[in-house]
Amino acid sequence: MNQPVDLCINNVRIMTMANTDKPLEVLANGALGIKNGKITFVGSQTDFAEEACKVIDGQGKWLLPGFIDCHTHLVYGGSRAAEFEKRLEGISYAEIAKQGGGIKSTVKATRETSEEMLFEQALKRVRRLAEEGVTTVEIKSGYGLDMDTEVKMLKVAKRLSAATPINVQSTYLGVHALPNEFLERADAYIDFVCSEVMPEIAEQDLANCVDVFCESIGFTPAQCQRVFESAKSLGLNIKAHVEQLSDLKGALLASQMGALSVDHVEYLAEQDIPTIAQTDTVAVLLPGAFYYLNETQKPPVDALRRHKVPMAVATDLNPGSSPVASLLTAMNMASVLFGLTPAEVLMGTTRYAAKALGMQNKGTIATGKDADLCLWDIEHPIELVYGINHHRPDKVWLGGKDVS
Ligand code: NIG
Ligand code: FE
Repeated sequence: MNQPVDLCINNVRIMTMANTDKPLEVLANGALGIKNGKITFVGSQTDFAEEACKVIDGQGKWLLPGFIDCHTHLVYGGSRAAEFEKRLEGISYAEIAKQGGGIKSTVKATRETSEEMLFEQALKRVRRLAEEGVTTVEIKSGYGLDMDTEVKMLKVAKRLSAATPINVQSTYLGVHALPNEFLERADAYIDFVCSEVMPEIAEQDLANCVDVFCESIGFTPAQCQRVFESAKSLGLNIKAHVEQLSDLKGALLASQMGALSVDHVEYLAEQDIPTIAQTDTVAVLLPGAFYYLNETQKPPVDALRRHKVPMAVATDLNPGSSPVASLLTAMNMASVLFGLTPAEVLMGTTRYAAKALGMQNKGTIATGKDADLCLWDIEHPIELVYGINHHRPDKVWLGGKDVS
């Protein structure tokens, strides 16, 4: 005899995000079975034949995969409010970075902040995201740049995972800015990252992905390539901040080397997109940074769409270019500022956000997937993209456990 499922959620409208051709396809009068944290049944209520230990009546509300914020820098010390004021006076982000502000000022503050304090501050940011139905968040290091602070940041990310009802995936972003100890010696810094920090992080299992900032105010494609090679030799995944402020062909390089994602891509050249489309790389769009930096160059959304490059959307939550602790707001921005359709945005914060993290077990509602789910009392999921700050999920399940 079959073991009963742990939980059945019935009488729901399910948007599975499982059909890439029809992202907004709805399963009316749906039912879902969950056992051991995994989805074991998804279909019509009338076809649900198993016995369930517990049954929840969804009252006709909407069941969606939990949202995934696949690009954040939410562990950091200090604040950049003063820099925000400077930018309003007309000094650019790149200029502030050249003057030693920007990322470097957060590096100084993060080095000076204790692990405990970093944890307390980051916990609040994670909670803001979780309130909106985010069940998985990616967190990057990159505000330490020395061994101890990078390790400290990644330990905080790990603790956040244990302390909150949210899955955390950690990424080592050592190649974010050049620390003062290595001024004028960028290649020596890359040596340090590749031969000392990355092996330690792999050894302590503190991250499963490595990111870089490939940019005129960051690192060259050749330097990023060395980082990718070392990361891959250690069994770590790769991803990259590319073409945010200029076109260095970082997206081509990263995608050719098997990157999970290329992020920002405002300055990505249209002619490079067919080559990227041949790979498995996701383009992660970050409208919060575009908005805050008052950018005018939009990512080539039409061409990405035409060539079927999967697009994800994330907050880029960080103290400088995107102090946006709201994925729902970033979703609205992706539509209003970049012209993504609500269907693209919803796919980009579920299915394709999972793909951008290499998490094939998440992001859709299908048998065998993790039961990370949100129940929304809304007329239609398009509403989640259309308005700002109208909705919170009624219920959230993480691995089948009610965490709301
Ligand atoms: O994704 N581009 C580099 N990194 C971050 C910005 C970090 C910062 O300004 O502190 C980004 O926009
Ligand atoms: Fe970023």
